[in-house]
Amino acid sequence: MTIKAYSVFDCSIIHFPKIHNRAGNITPLQNGIEVPFDVKRIYYLYDIPGGESRGAHAHRQLQQLIVAASGSFDVTIDDGTNKKTIHLNRPYYGLHLLPGMWRDLSNFSSGAICLVLASHEYDVHDYIRDYDQFKNFRGIHR
Ligand code: TYD
Repeated sequence: MTIKAYSVFDCSIIHFPKIHNRAGNITPLQNGIEVPFDVKRIYYLYDIPGGESRGAHAHRQLQQLIVAASGSFDVTIDDGTNKKTIHLNRPYYGLHLLPGMWRDLSNFSSGAICLVLASHEYDVHDYIRDYDQFKNFRGIHR
């Protein structure tokens, strides 16, 4: 399957383990086990002002696992043909984002933390920030 062939329906919610006791919970994430790729970078979004949205781009190769480590937010993914919105609100669920998905993150709750595990280091050339260019990348011609 080529990168361009992934659809929004291939992007799944992964249910992580939760080790629970009365003093709280632990969710461990390991390369190739809970995370379906090798993690090369971790970053997190926080202090997001009310009403803000983020994203509005796609990646050519990057895979990501997006987790609402605290609070909640919506992730809308778009493969150029189909769109779907996923509400993330638990630290033991991760949205597996495959390459070639336009994404918008919105409706952040107060104090939300969006944790992102990424398959590659930061590469400005991996970004597609123009929607028409994205459609072109996906092989969709108007
Ligand atoms: P961007 O990925 O566009 O953020 P979002 O999709 O959440 O709106 O990144 C915003 C800025 O941060 C951009 O100038 C690049 C920089 N950045 C890094 O330097 N390293 C990173 O790992 C990330 C994710 C972003």
